[in-house]
Amino acid sequence: SIYIHTDQSIAPIQTTMWGVFFEDINFGADGGIYAELIKNRSFEFAKPLMGWSIKGKKIKEGDLLILNRQGSPFNPRFLRLNVQEAAKGDVGILNEGFRGIGVKKGLKYDFSLMYRQHRGNVLLHVEFVDEKNAVIGSTLLKLASTDANWHQQEVSLVSTATAEKAKLNIWFEGNSLVDVDMISLFPSDTWKGRKGGLRGDMVQMLADMKPGFIRFPGGCIVEGMDLANRYQWKKTIGPIENRQLIMNRWNVEFGHRPAPDYFQTFGLGFFEYFQLAEDLGAQALPILNCGMACQYNTAELIPLEDLGPYIQDALDLIEFANGDENSKWGKMRASMGHPKPFHLKYLGVGNENWGPQYIERAKLFQQKIKEKYPEIKLIFSSGTDPDSERFHYLNNELRAMKADIIDEHYYRSPDWFLKNASRYDSYDRKGAKVFAGEFAAHNHNKITGSDKNTWQAAIAEAAFMTGLERNAEVVNMASYAPLFAHSEGWQWAPDLIWVNNLNVYGTPNYYVQKLFSTNKGTHVLGMTKEAKAISGVDGLYASSVIDTVKKEIIIKIVNTEKTTLNQTIVLDGKKKISVGTITIIDGDPEGKNSFEQAKNFSPKEQNISVKKQQLVLNLSPNSLNVLKLKY
Ligand code: AHR
Repeated sequence: SIYIHTDQSIAPIQTTMWGVFFEDINFGADGGIYAELIKNRSFEFAKPLMGWSIKGKKIKEGDLLILNRQGSPFNPRFLRLNVQEAAKGDVGILNEGFRGIGVKKGLKYDFSLMYRQHRGNVLLHVEFVDEKNAVIGSTLLKLASTDANWHQQEVSLVSTATAEKAKLNIWFEGNSLVDVDMISLFPSDTWKGRKGGLRGDMVQMLADMKPGFIRFPGGCIVEGMDLANRYQWKKTIGPIENRQLIMNRWNVEFGHRPAPDYFQTFGLGFFEYFQLAEDLGAQALPILNCGMACQYNTAELIPLEDLGPYIQDALDLIEFANGDENSKWGKMRASMGHPKPFHLKYLGVGNENWGPQYIERAKLFQQKIKEKYPEIKLIFSSGTDPDSERFHYLNNELRAMKADIIDEHYYRSPDWFLKNASRYDSYDRKGAKVFAGEFAAHNHNKITGSDKNTWQAAIAEAAFMTGLERNAEVVNMASYAPLFAHSEGWQWAPDLIWVNNLNVYGTPNYYVQKLFSTNKGTHVLGMTKEAKAISGVDGLYASSVIDTVKKEIIIKIVNTEKTTLNQTIVLDGKKKISVGTITIIDGDPEGKNSFEQAKNFSPKEQNISVKKQQLVLNLSPNSLNVLKLKY
C-alpha cells in the first residue's frame, strides 16, 4: 500500500517549479517560432543571396547588385535593381523560405519591404508558387514614393491552397532604379494576432503547459562559438531593421545535420521574450554571457579587469525590465510599447561555463548585481556533467559563495534518470536552491538522434521528476531541453516539440512535462510505501502534493515495470475524499508520437471514486498515472 499523509505538508512548491527553456537551436526561433517566412530578408547572411534566386527573361549583368553601406553597423546590405521596360516575368527574385514557406489555404499573409526609388516607378507582383511552380495566391504593390529616402510599404495576399513548401516570387514591372531591403512575409494567424509576431500554434503548445518560467535565450548561443558571436541583448531590441544579425552558434557541421543557413536575426529579441513570458504568465529567466565563450569550442574569455561592460549589461537589463520611464533603459522599454515594468526576478550568469575562471567571473557579477539589486535571484551554472569532478568543484564553489540558485544540466540514459530519482533527497535544505535547467533522457546518440523521444525516455523522465517534486524544498525550477525542433532543420535530438512549416506535435516527453506542470500543487505531502519513500521501490516512483487553492490532492505514480502493478492508495488524514480523476499515459516503451500520430502518447482521463479513504489501482505497465482527488 501507498500511504498519503494528506495533512502532512512538507514544503511549499514554488510557482516556478516547472517551466520551459527556449533556445534558438533546431530552427527554434528563426525558421520556427519567429513567424517570419522570408529567409535572409535583409541580405545579411554570410552569402548575401542565400535563400534567394534571381529570375527572369530580361536580366542583364549588373541589373541586380548587392550594395554595402560601408560604415553602417547593422544591416549594411541591400539589393539594387535596375528595371528597364520590364513586364511581369522579365526581372524577379524568389525566396525559398526556411525549408520552404508553409502557407495555408484562405489565410492572409502580410508582405512588406523597405525601398527607395532613385528614378521611375515600379509595380511589384508578389505571388506564392507551390512545389510545381503553380501560382497559389498573388497581389500587386505599387512602390509609391520616389525620393532618396527609405520607405516601408506593405500589402496582403491570401493563399489559395495549402502547401508546406511554397516559395515567394517578386516580379518587378516598369522602369526604375530601386533599392530594396527587409523583404518580409508574416502569416496573419500569429500569436495574439501581433504583426511581425510569433507562430501561434507553437506558442499555444507552451501556453498549454502553463509554464512557471521561461529561460532564454540559451544555452550555448549565450556563450557563442567565440565572444564576437555571443548573445548580446542590447543588439536585439529596438526597430528590427536595426538589429544586427549574427551567425547562429548551431550553424555548424554538427553530426550529420549542418545548417549553413542558420542565422539569428533577433526579430525575436529580449523585448519579445519578456512579452512572451508575460503572455504565458511565466517568470522571465534571462541568461547572460559571463565573459566566456563556449568552452567546448574555444577557451576565449575576457580578462577580469575588462569584465565591466559585461556586468553593466546585466545591470542595464534589470533596468530595462524593471526600471521606470525616467531611467535610460526603462524609457527604451516604454518606447517599445511596454511602459509598465516586466517584474524581472531571476537572472542567470553564464551557461555551462567551468573552471576557476568561471567562479572568478561569477563572483564579480554577484557582487555588483547584489550591491544594486539585492532582490534579484541570481542563477549560476554547474554544467552538464553531473557525476564529474568538474561538476562537484563548481557546485561546492557556488555553494560557498552563497549562490541563490544553481543550474544543473543532465542529458543521460533513461537508466541514469531512474537511478537518480532520489538525487536530491540528500541535498542540503538550507543552501543554494536547484534549477534543473536542462534535462532529457537520451536512449542512444543525441547527435544522430537515432532514437527520438521514445516513451521509454519520457517515462524515465517522469520517474525522475517525481524525485524533483518530492524535493521541492530544494528544487525550485526544472525544464526539459531542447524545447523545439524543426523536422528539417534540427541539430540536436531528442526535443520536446517537433514542428514543420505547417504543423506541430508534442512528444510523449511533452505530455509528461505538461501533466506535471498543470498539476504542480502548492505543497509537497508526506507519503510512504510500507515506511519507505517511493523511489524505485518495486519499479514504482511517486510523489504527492496538495493544491490548497483548488482543494485537490494530486498523486503521481510511475510504473516502470513491464507488468501491471496493483496498489492500494491509503489517504491517511482528516480530509474526506470521495471523488476524483485518474489521468494515464502508457504504452510501448519503443513507441513515439509523430506528425501523423500526434496523440499516440497523450493523457487519457477517467473518473474514479474513493471508498473509506482508500482506492485500489491497477497500474498498467510503463505508465504515468496522475490522480486528482477533491477534498
Ligand atoms: O540544449 C542543447 C544544449 O545543451 C544547450 O545549448 C547547452 O546549454 C547544452 O549543452
